[in-house]
Amino acid sequence: MPERENMEKITLGPMSYMSVMPTLLVGANIRGKPNYMTAAWATVACMAPPMVCVAINKMRYTARGIEENRTFSLNIPSLEQVVVTDHCGLVSGAHEDKSGVFRSFYGKLKTAPLAEECPVNIECRLFKSVDCGSHLLYIGEVAEIHAETSCVTEGKPDITKINPIIYAQSAYFGVGKRAGKAFSEGKQYKKT
Ligand SMILES: Cc1cc2nc3c(=O)[nH]c(=O)nc-3n(C[C@H](O)[C@H](O)[C@H](O)COP(=O)(O)O)c2cc1C
Repeated sequence: MPERENMEKITLGPMSYMSVMPTLLVGANIRGKPNYMTAAWATVACMAPPMVCVAINKMRYTARGIEENRTFSLNIPSLEQVVVTDHCGLVSGAHEDKSGVFRSFYGKLKTAPLAEECPVNIECRLFKSVDCGSHLLYIGEVAEIHAETSCVTEGKPDITKINPIIYAQSAYFGVGKRAGKAFSEGKQYKKT
């Protein structure tokens, strides 16, 4: 193992911590109108069938829309869209109409609004919601992925072209340098 200095540990107490998170916009229709909220507490949940999940506070206007239609979308903004992305996390659709913040289009599910300006849109059918306390973990089965052609390489969304927004420590970051090939670098590991 490469030596790291100062490996002494302290305890910080229990908190909802994760090192890095994505920055997404959750789209949901509420009484027939699209609404987008910023979310960082999201990840992949299953491979077969393909599923993703997002933790949404019960107070969010978005939660109403997901319950109403049992569909939602995860829209991936690009770093240039940091202002509009943060706006959707500062303002609630309960108080201000966010339906015009993005141009919306609809895919297979018909009721999950997709933000045209975002390079990638993940269309989801609600699989299950798990009540964790303050937040509901919404698990969605991916019905379709819509991606700008310029952001796709060999049939997959390409991080270098999307330029997504990373969220950590109440701040936004760009994607850093590539640090190796997954499922491959570990082959160099030598037991000591
Ligand atoms: C960077 C960022 C990340 C956020 N992540 C989440 C999240 O994962 N879950 C959540 O419930 N709220 C999250 N929020 C807060 C909501 O986006 C915010 O309360 C928003 O106004 C809710 O909109 P709505 O009431 O229209 O649904 C986040 C806000 C920001 C700025």
